[in-house]
Amino acid sequence: MKITVLPGDGVGPEVTREALRVLNAVALVHSIEIETTGALIGGCAIREAGSPLPEETVAAFEGADAVLLGAVGDPAYDHLLPDQRPEIGLLKMRQHLGGFANLRPSKAYGSLIDSSPLRREIFEGTDLLIVRELLGGLYFGTPRGFEDGNSSAFNTMRYSTAEVERVARVAFESARGRRRKVTSVDKANVLETSRLWRESVSKVAADYPDVELDHLFVDACAMHLVTNPTRFDVVLTENLFGDILSDEAAVLTGSLGMLASATIGGKIDLFEPVHGSAPDIAGKDLANPIGAIASAAMLLRYTGKNEEAALAIESAIERALAEGYRTADIARDDNSISTTAMGELIARYALGKTASQPASQAN
Ligand code: IPM
Ligand code: MN
Repeated sequence: MKITVLPGDGVGPEVTREALRVLNAVALVHSIEIETTGALIGGCAIREAGSPLPEETVAAFEGADAVLLGAVGDPAYDHLLPDQRPEIGLLKMRQHLGGFANLRPSKAYGSLIDSSPLRREIFEGTDLLIVRELLGGLYFGTPRGFEDGNSSAFNTMRYSTAEVERVARVAFESARGRRRKVTSVDKANVLETSRLWRESVSKVAADYPDVELDHLFVDACAMHLVTNPTRFDVVLTENLFGDILSDEAAVLTGSLGMLASATIGGKIDLFEPVHGSAPDIAGKDLANPIGAIASAAMLLRYTGKNEEAALAIESAIERALAEGYRTADIARDDNSISTTAMGELIARYALGKTASQPASQAN
C-alpha cells in the first residue's frame, strides 16, 4: 500500500507519528507492505511552501492508495479569509481525492463509560456511524462571497440527486454490516436541498428493503444524540450537519480525541482523526493519539481490505483502555500517560495479540 502521510498542524505530527508506529507494527505481522511519503498541508505548508496545499503535496498523491492526515488549523492564520486559511488546504485536498462519503464511527468503550458527559444508563451501548456527505453543500456551493462593501456575505447550499444517492448507498451498504438501520437527517421543513435529500434517500432505500429507514430533522437529531444515543445505528447527513453532529457524537465518548474517520468513494481514500490541531497542547506530548491510531485501523479495513489487521489495532486500543491507561483528556485523576507512551503501548498490544500469543491469552 502506498500511503501519503500529511502530519499537518498542531498535535497532528505527534498523533500521526503514533498512528504510523502502530500501523507499521501491525503491517509487519500481517505481511502488509507499506510505503509512506510525507508531505505538507495546512498552516505548516503556508509557512514552508507558501500555500495550504502546495503542488508538491498534490504530486505526492499520484499513485497513492490512501492519505493519512493528522490535523489542519493554525491560530496564526485566524485573521485570514476562508479562502486563504490552512483549512482550505484540507477542503481542496478532499475535492482532489474525490471521496464523498466520510464515515465517523462513535461508540461507547466499556472501560471509558464514566468519561462520557452522559449518564451511564443513557450512554451505555451507544454504537453509531455517521455517514457525512463531504463534497457538497455549503462548503463548496457557489456562488459565495462578500458583497456591498463587505456589509453582507452569502453561501450556497446545493445538492444534486446524484450526489445524495451515491452517499446514501454508502450508508445503506454500511448498515448491512451493522444493525440495518439508517436515520437520514435533514431540515426538510425549511430547506429545498433537504426536500431533495429526503426524496433521493427514500428512492435509494427501495433497493435495500432489509434496511430500516427513518428521517429526522437536524435539530431533533441533535437532541436525540444526547437523550437517546442508542436509538441510532447509521446516521446519514449532508456536509455541514454532519460536521456539527459528528463533534457532538464524538464527545459523547468522553473525548473528541478518540474518534477516527475514513473518507471513501473517490480515487484515493482519506483517513483522519475527527479532532482538530489543538494548538493549546501541541508539542507537549499530551494529545490523545487514539483517534489517529483508530484512523490507521480504518485504513487497513477500507483500503487494505484487511479486517483482521484492523481488528488487531482496535482490540489493542480497547485493551489499553480496559487496563486503565489514559491520556490527559480522558484521565479522571493525575494519572495520565503521554501521547508517545499510549502509542507505544497500543503498538505493543497490537503485536502481542497477533504475533506470539493467541487472543484468548492476551487479555
Ligand atoms: C472536520 C473539520 C473540517 C471540516 C475543517 C477543519 C475544515 O472540522 O473534518 O470535521 O469542517 O470538515
Ligand atoms: Mn468538524
